[in-house]
Amino acid sequence: MLTLNKILEIPCRLPKWKIHGFLRGFTFHSGKQSLHKLVLGIETSCDDTAAAVVDEAGNILGEALHSQTEVHLKTGGIIPSVAQRLHRENIEQIVKETLSASGITPKELSAIATTVKPGLALSLGVGLEYSLQLVKQYKKPFIPIHHMEAHALTIRITNKVEFPFLVLLVSGGHCLLAVVQGVSDFLLLGKSLDIAPGDLLDKVARRLSLVKHPTYSTMSGGKAIEHLAKQGNRLHFDFRHPLHYCRNCDFSFAGLQSAVDRIITQKEKEEGIEKGQILSCAADIAAAVQHTVASHIAKRTHRAILFCQQRGFLTPSNAILVASGGVASNLYIRRTLEIITKATNCILLCPPLKFCTDNGIMIAWNGIERLYAGLGILHNVDGVRYEPKCPLGVDISKQVGEAAIKVPSVKI
Ligand code: KG4
Ligand code: ZN
Repeated sequence: MLTLNKILEIPCRLPKWKIHGFLRGFTFHSGKQSLHKLVLGIETSCDDTAAAVVDEAGNILGEALHSQTEVHLKTGGIIPSVAQRLHRENIEQIVKETLSASGITPKELSAIATTVKPGLALSLGVGLEYSLQLVKQYKKPFIPIHHMEAHALTIRITNKVEFPFLVLLVSGGHCLLAVVQGVSDFLLLGKSLDIAPGDLLDKVARRLSLVKHPTYSTMSGGKAIEHLAKQGNRLHFDFRHPLHYCRNCDFSFAGLQSAVDRIITQKEKEEGIEKGQILSCAADIAAAVQHTVASHIAKRTHRAILFCQQRGFLTPSNAILVASGGVASNLYIRRTLEIITKATNCILLCPPLKFCTDNGIMIAWNGIERLYAGLGILHNVDGVRYEPKCPLGVDISKQVGEAAIKVPSVKI
């Protein structure tokens, strides 16, 4: 069984850009031609301009990424027009770097795969426009990618995970639990009714003015909270757990955000400091918020596991929970999930940290998966559009709510 230590070790063992062999034992037997499938993946759905070339065995031939985090931290959040400008300024260079690190020419590509949904309209537009130019210039098939499907399938680059498996996707824009039955076959068990956990953590970090602290000034909000929380005592604050009365797999983080906001305002008054200065109890608040987020995510995931076991989606021989997305790079949250998977005889698998946040590798890999499954490969790109809002899979969250599974209490 994969232990937590092993899970946490994975990122350290991965070389920076080129990973060979150890990845997965894919067996494609469709002839000599199939041995050299190479897909260029392009990602611009939010605030990272990223690209990668991946082959059918999961070897990453080259990758490049330009993060806009530092710019958006300064403006206090993502301004879509700024994100669009930065994508425009960087996309050509990022793709060039990727191809040159890969040592291949565009002519050698089997296809180009690009995130077209969901995401920020202005950001998606840049990636799609640039990709379609390449597609037309080099006469390559185009594979439109669903950003969340790509996050969900990333684990299959590093681990031999068979369908079906359960996936928890937690990021700055999304929060959902789904059964992955196939490359493009998802059952949605539950999602956030309001904001995503990454959005909450970004807002709390901003409200705590962590950007003014040299240690945290360049970190994403979630990462800053994780680091600060290590010095805090979570027991100094007690936030109510969201939706504890609803026996479903939906999430909510907006109420927690308001509660944290109220506490910060109260503490600012007590300490006699102005908005914008850092509170003496900031680490305790970070620890308590992180714990409440982790417990809420764990509880909903626990119910999803029990539902999947009840319905036969997870069996004793194939009981895997995959956690991915930017927030899944949080080690406290991973540890909490491991407690749940141990209690339910499941195995927790998380992609290496750098594969959890947005990247081009996951998009290229989704292209490879689709190429082999023969799904969504376009030879004519007329009418291809981006879709800022696009749900994932078939929504069965009503059935999950009707099952009203009581989750046994587990000490976290
Ligand atoms: O998946 P991602 O890169 O982009 C989206 O699709 O949203 O996730 C970004 C989010 C941000 O909200 C960021 O604060 C959060 O993931 N994040 C973290 C950590 N690293 C990034 N949240 C908690 N702990 C972390 N270590
Ligand atoms: Zn993402």
